[in-house]
Amino acid sequence: MIVVSGIQPTGRFHWGNYFGAIKQYVELQDQADASYYFIANLHALTTVRDPEVLRRNTIDAAIDLLALGINPDRATLFVQSDVPEVTQLCWLLMTCTPMGLLERCHAYKDKKAKGLPADAGLFTYPVLMAADILAYDADTVPVGEDQIQHIEVCRDIAGSFNHLYGEVFVMPRAKIMEKAARVPGTDGEKMSKSYNNTIGIFDDPKVVRKTIMRIVTDSRPIHEPKDPETDHLFQLYSLFVGEKEREAMAARYRAGGFGYGEVKQALADAAEKYFAEAREYRKELEAKPQFVREVLGDGAAMARKKAAEVLARAQAACGIKYA
Ligand code: TYM
Repeated sequence: MIVVSGIQPTGRFHWGNYFGAIKQYVELQDQADASYYFIANLHALTTVRDPEVLRRNTIDAAIDLLALGINPDRATLFVQSDVPEVTQLCWLLMTCTPMGLLERCHAYKDKKAKGLPADAGLFTYPVLMAADILAYDADTVPVGEDQIQHIEVCRDIAGSFNHLYGEVFVMPRAKIMEKAARVPGTDGEKMSKSYNNTIGIFDDPKVVRKTIMRIVTDSRPIHEPKDPETDHLFQLYSLFVGEKEREAMAARYRAGGFGYGEVKQALADAAEKYFAEAREYRKELEAKPQFVREVLGDGAAMARKKAAEVLARAQAACGIKYA
């Protein structure tokens, strides 16, 4: 199994990023033959327009991923732009990508529907993502549900290249964490920076508690029984606790007689405990910028080696290597 996944440095990571993606990265680094995890700064360039912010976010993202358990002895951690082979591969793929395929992609379609101006970077975003995946011969791509369409597009592009030039690329598959495919935000919609409903992994615990208190709930009277399965507060709580605590909370929901405030307190306590170790380790890493730079440098070298091999294969197949 070869695993690859990327995450954009568009701001600090939130619970959706962690339970949908990062938690899987950490689990898979021990199971895979090779795993490649990168900070997608080229993709972020379609939204982050302040160079200083992008630089800062990139380093913060690396520190966050290490703090959350990415082990550089097991996984290859790097920054997307440090592997120029990927952007070269992207052009080859672009020539096999029908416009209609990209016109159907959500990010572009949504922006257009709102009458907002879209640039070619946003339009071709899924092709760069396909290059990110195909460059490492990856077969497994751990992501949240919102990325499934992009992985399907990647498979279509790989299929059309393979159809024209022979079996060059490995067909990847999305890997989704069932319980956390779509982590809800404070308003019950998908947690997302663009909806302003996120809860930050490394926000100060006091800030996290305040944010949790603002989670929108229904206004059913305290004594009424509630269905835990349809409640986003319960869904969030379930992410942080084991089966026994989850069942105990579910039983309380069904029995009724309690307020959502109690569940929010329990969630805040569980979340604080859950990330306590990562928070401590993050402080240590902040004090070791040289170590972080080294990890990213070594990661980029490893990733380039593999990507160069795949790029050469693709170039040879389509006649770009002429001698
Ligand atoms: P990004 O940066 O938006 O999100 C990073 C990862 O977090 C997951 N995620 C969620 N999962 C569950 N519930 C949520 N509320 C939630 N919010 C975010 C995302 O599904 C994703 O897995 N295009 C990608 C970055 C990328 C990439 C790649 C991913 C670039 N190249 C190649 C995989 C392979 C993105 O914007 O993710």
